[in-house]
Amino acid sequence: MEPKKYLRFLALLLVTFLLIVFIFNRDSDLPSSRSFHSVNKAAVELKLQPRPRKIVSQVSDVAHHPLDPLTIQEINRVRVIVSSHALFKGAKYHALHSVVLEEPPKARVLKWKEGDPVFPRKASVIARVDGETHVLSVDLGSGRVQKVDVGELSGYPTMTIEDMNTATFTPLVSKEFNRTVVERGVDLKDLACLPISLGWYGKKEEKKRLIKVQCYSMEDTANFYMRPIEGLTVIVDMDTNEVVEISDNGKDIPIPNALDTDYRFLAQKNLHKIKPMNPISIEQPKGPSFNIENRHMVKWANWEFHLKPDPRAGVIISQAKFRDPDTRELRNVMYKGMTSELFVPYMDPTDAWYFKTYMDAGEYGFGLQAMPLVPLNDCPRNAYYMDGVFAAGDGKPYVRSNMVCVFERYAGDIGWRHSECPITGMEIREARPKVTLVVRMAASVANYDYIVDWEFQTDGLINIKVGLSGILMVKGTPYTNTNQIPNQEDLYGTLLSENVIGVIHDHYITFYLDMDIDGSDNSFVKVNLQRQQTAPGESPRSSYLKATKSVAKTEKDAQIKLKLYDPYEFHMVNPNKKTRVGNPVGYKVVPAGTAASLLDLDDPPQKRGAFTNNQIWVTPYNRSEEWAGGLFVYQSKGEDTLAAWSERDRDIENKDIVLWYTLGFHHIPCQEDFPIMPTVSSSFSLKPVNFFEKNPILGISPNFEKDLPVCQASSSTS
Ligand SMILES: *[C@@H]1O[C@H](CO)[C@@H](O)[C@H](O)[C@H]1NC(C)=O
Ligand SMILES: *[C@@H]1O[C@H](CO)[C@@H](O)[C@H](O)[C@H]1NC(C)=O
Repeated sequence: MEPKKYLRFLALLLVTFLLIVFIFNRDSDLPSSRSFHSVNKAAVELKLQPRPRKIVSQVSDVAHHPLDPLTIQEINRVRVIVSSHALFKGAKYHALHSVVLEEPPKARVLKWKEGDPVFPRKASVIARVDGETHVLSVDLGSGRVQKVDVGELSGYPTMTIEDMNTATFTPLVSKEFNRTVVERGVDLKDLACLPISLGWYGKKEEKKRLIKVQCYSMEDTANFYMRPIEGLTVIVDMDTNEVVEISDNGKDIPIPNALDTDYRFLAQKNLHKIKPMNPISIEQPKGPSFNIENRHMVKWANWEFHLKPDPRAGVIISQAKFRDPDTRELRNVMYKGMTSELFVPYMDPTDAWYFKTYMDAGEYGFGLQAMPLVPLNDCPRNAYYMDGVFAAGDGKPYVRSNMVCVFERYAGDIGWRHSECPITGMEIREARPKVTLVVRMAASVANYDYIVDWEFQTDGLINIKVGLSGILMVKGTPYTNTNQIPNQEDLYGTLLSENVIGVIHDHYITFYLDMDIDGSDNSFVKVNLQRQQTAPGESPRSSYLKATKSVAKTEKDAQIKLKLYDPYEFHMVNPNKKTRVGNPVGYKVVPAGTAASLLDLDDPPQKRGAFTNNQIWVTPYNRSEEWAGGLFVYQSKGEDTLAAWSERDRDIENKDIVLWYTLGFHHIPCQEDFPIMPTVSSSFSLKPVNFFEKNPILGISPNFEKDLPVCQASSSTS
């Protein structure tokens, strides 16, 4: 490639995928770069743990907690140990697809106390060596490498960043591809290509690690996603970097216009039409109320938890505990919570679209795709930013700066309130402001952006929210107006702009929630609300609702599909611990707006995404069952999913159990989603239910005028 063209390509990849070289260089070669660090972050860090420039402490960082992620030094050590291992010596090629902490056994972590030595640190490594996948357990102390037997599993590990980058270049080795692109009127220098996981549909995907590459025109826009070269699909072998097949079924479909596709601030010429608003920000005159100790322990109000970035899950919350306001005792709530898998099937069965059924965590790495958060916009002032330290395919560590933020939210909401009306003669006006703590990350999986919030409340509730934004994956069409579409024709979506269809799709985000309510042995209780009829003459009322509890004995009792007209509450309780008046202490999972997959259960993508067949599942705790779509999701056939594990129907009563919840969205695109989508969110909660003896936030103080700053604002009346 000519240098100029090569640069264009590099620029494109920067936009599309995380270019390690770039990230790594920025953090290690330019240690003084603080471009993403707000002054406030620096202040918080200095107050909590005075330390020199970030990169210095990052490199010399050591683990303080058994669950702390691997440090830069530890990742370097893994590379050294592994590369001298017999498996790798003499190999034609090898790549490390995952290098993460091998968490010590739960029983040992539970016994660990602050100040105790961290256990012998181990790394869990997933490597591809000459076409074979290996799972290795690497002891960082002794240097011992153990092969882990994971049985016979279909599928491949999460792609490396290098896999994705290389795949987007590979089509260019083909003359036929170049010719097709030029024939479609696209200059090769304007080409932008995406690596698209292809699922599993049968023979064609057998025994080869493949990817489909589709391309767009970058001419005249930064938003190349709106300019698809429709119907052109290149199958690339990721192990040999060869073009396997080119299919081009879109020759008659024009490439949509670049007009109005740019979403960047500086490109908006119509800005004056939106009435500008006054600046708004939350002030914390005394700084935030949370502490982050030893990089990963978050302490705020009555909550304490361990927080770490993870290449696959995004963020992992561990050992979430709540200090009981009555007893001052620190009580266990959740041992581990994380995004386990995503499933995003598109609803278009045609050649260039049927395979688009992404599993973003297991295929692309939900954490690997998380970009640095933008201070003051992604997270408010006074946010604390946490970096991710990950390993590239060659085993070298790199830093994803500002990947996670932690901040206190005050959105003007009410924690609780009551006022007495004058009839009672009492002048009671009691109200408490609601302040919460948010842990946030945002993954940009190519075009789509997922914002994941873990929000902790002072009343013990945890709200888990997923926001969807970013750019639609669109389809080119000859139509420029709905009046041209023949009656019978299924567009598979909505015409959003001239020659652009937003294809209907679903999003499922499945959460792994290892609840430990006051200890590990818990039960799952279904509380069913049912209409009861009164006997004739018994009451002026003919009907009322009654709550009936049943304890789920085995996994199949806990496969739950939500139903509006047959309502249930779902409690995780500790049957061994009761409140003063005898209720078992518990937490309930509270679903909110959600969606269920309607695909055939034996449709190949739904088999792989079978963990979405129910909204709730409960499984016995098993270290090897954390990834709902299986350990190796890429091109898997779906034999290692949560659905398969749950079919074993193991006992789950009064045992260490794990709750799984899937949050879903159906997305029928509309014109407002063009050229970029306003955020759409949904959430679910984990809410205390008889966990406390009484309202745990009676002790919150009201706001008083004297404690709050009055910023000098220009008068709003002038
Ligand atoms: C295809 O085009 C690219 C970009 O101009 C060029 O680098 C590459 O060599 C071409 N491939 C072939 C086989 O000609
Ligand atoms: C733990 O999970 C693995 C992987 O699914 C499975 O092979 C094993 O049988 C499970 N163990 C138990 C006790 O269920």
